[in-house]
Amino acid sequence: MTGETSPLDARRAALPSSYRLFYEHPVVVDHTEGVWIHDVTGTPLLDVYNNVPVVGHSNAHVTERVSAQLRTANTHTRYVYPAVAEYASRLESLFPAALNKTIFTCSGSEAVDLALQVARFMTGKEGMIATSHAYHGTTAATHAVSPSLSRHFVDDRVALVDVPEEALVSGNLSPDAGEEFARRVREAIFTLEARGVGFAGLIMDQVLTSDGVFTDPVGFMAPVREAVRSAGGVFIADEVQSGFGRTGTHMWGFDRHGIVPDLVILGKPMGNGLPIAALVGTEELLNSYGETFRYFNTFGGNPVCIAAADAVLDEIERLDVLANVVATGALLREGLSATLTAHGLAATVRGTGLIAGGDLTAARETPAESKALVVDIVNGLRERGVLISSTGPRGTVLKVRPPLVFQPEHVERVMSALDDTLTELTT
Ligand SMILES: Cc1ncc(COP(=O)(O)O)c(C=O)c1O
Repeated sequence: MTGETSPLDARRAALPSSYRLFYEHPVVVDHTEGVWIHDVTGTPLLDVYNNVPVVGHSNAHVTERVSAQLRTANTHTRYVYPAVAEYASRLESLFPAALNKTIFTCSGSEAVDLALQVARFMTGKEGMIATSHAYHGTTAATHAVSPSLSRHFVDDRVALVDVPEEALVSGNLSPDAGEEFARRVREAIFTLEARGVGFAGLIMDQVLTSDGVFTDPVGFMAPVREAVRSAGGVFIADEVQSGFGRTGTHMWGFDRHGIVPDLVILGKPMGNGLPIAALVGTEELLNSYGETFRYFNTFGGNPVCIAAADAVLDEIERLDVLANVVATGALLREGLSATLTAHGLAATVRGTGLIAGGDLTAARETPAESKALVVDIVNGLRERGVLISSTGPRGTVLKVRPPLVFQPEHVERVMSALDDTLTELTT
C-alpha cells in the first residue's frame, strides 16, 4: 500500500543504529504462545532460541498472577509486601545454605554491576577477571567485563582469560581442563596485582555461552573457584544463562560443577518476561556492604515482578521442567550431532540440558567461511520457521537454546528443517 510505512522502516526512523535485528528477514511479532512466536503474516515460528520464557511464552499462570497483582497494588520495596520476603526465602531455599540474602534488580546488568561494587568494596581491590568473549551487561561497569560487546571499555581494572577450548572440548577425557583454566586465572590475578589494582574477583557465566558454550567436563569450575578463593577474591557465578534449570540436572550451573560461589547473578528466566533479576549472596558480603551503602531500586522487586517470579517457580515445579530439560535436551543434542554429520560437516555439539552449541569451526577451511556457513544455516532455518542464533568468539557456533518446555516433537521439527536447510546449502 503506497504511503504506508513498514514496521521495519518505522523502527529505523525512531530507533538509533545501536539496535540490531535477528535474521536477513527480521521477524515482526504478532503474538506468542508456549514455544511459538506467530508473526504478523500468521506464520508460526518455532522458538529454539529464547531463554527468557522458560515456562513458555504467554504462560497462563504467570499472566494470571501478574494481572491479579497489578490490579491489587504495585509500589516498591520501601513498603512491606510479605510476598517479597516470602519469594526471597523460597528462592534462597534452592541455594546452598551460605547463600541466604537476595537483592532484587530489574536486569541482569544491574545485578552484575552491583556484584562488582560489592566485590570491590569488600576486598578493597579493583581488579576483576572475566573470560575473553564474555557478556555480562550494558552498564559502564558491566560493559568493561563484556569483551564480546567490545573491548573499548575494558580498562586496566579488568584482566581477560581465554577459555581453554581444546582442553574443554576433549570433555571427560581431559581431567586437566579445570587445572588449565585455573592456571590461566592465577596468571590473570598476577597481572592485576602487577598493575597495582589488586584482585577483587572473577565473574563467569556458568555455561560460558558467549565464549562458545562450554559445559564439560563436569567439575571444571572447581579449580577456578579454588584459585579465586585462595587469592582472597570474590567468585561471582553469572546464572543469567544457566539458571532456573537450563542445565536440567541442576537448578543452577554452579551446582552442576559442585562449587559454591560467593555471589550469584540471576536474570532473564526469573520472571518469564517480566523485568526481574537478582543478586544472591552470603550474609557476610551483602550485609557488610549494606551497612555502608543503601540500595534502592525503584522497580527492582516490585510486587508485580515478584508475582511473576513466584509463578515461574510454581510452573517449574508443576511441569517438572528439569526432568523435561534432561530428556528433551539429550534428544536435541543427539539430533543436532547426527544431522550435521549426516551432511558431511565436521561438527562438535557441546552443551547440557537445553543449551546446545553446534561448533562448525572445523567445517570449513577458514573461520570466516565457517561463520558464513553458520549465518546461512541460521537464516535458512528462519525461512523454514525455526528460530536459532549463533555464538562464540568467531561466530562459528550454532546457538540452540529453547524455552524449557520444549518437547520431543519440537526437536523433530528442528531436525527436519535443519536437514532441508543443509540439503540446500551443501549440495
Ligand atoms: C550471562 C549474562 N549476564 C548478564 C546479562 C545481562 O542481563 P540483562 O540483559 O538483563 O541486563 C546477560 C544478557 O544477555 C547475560 O547473557
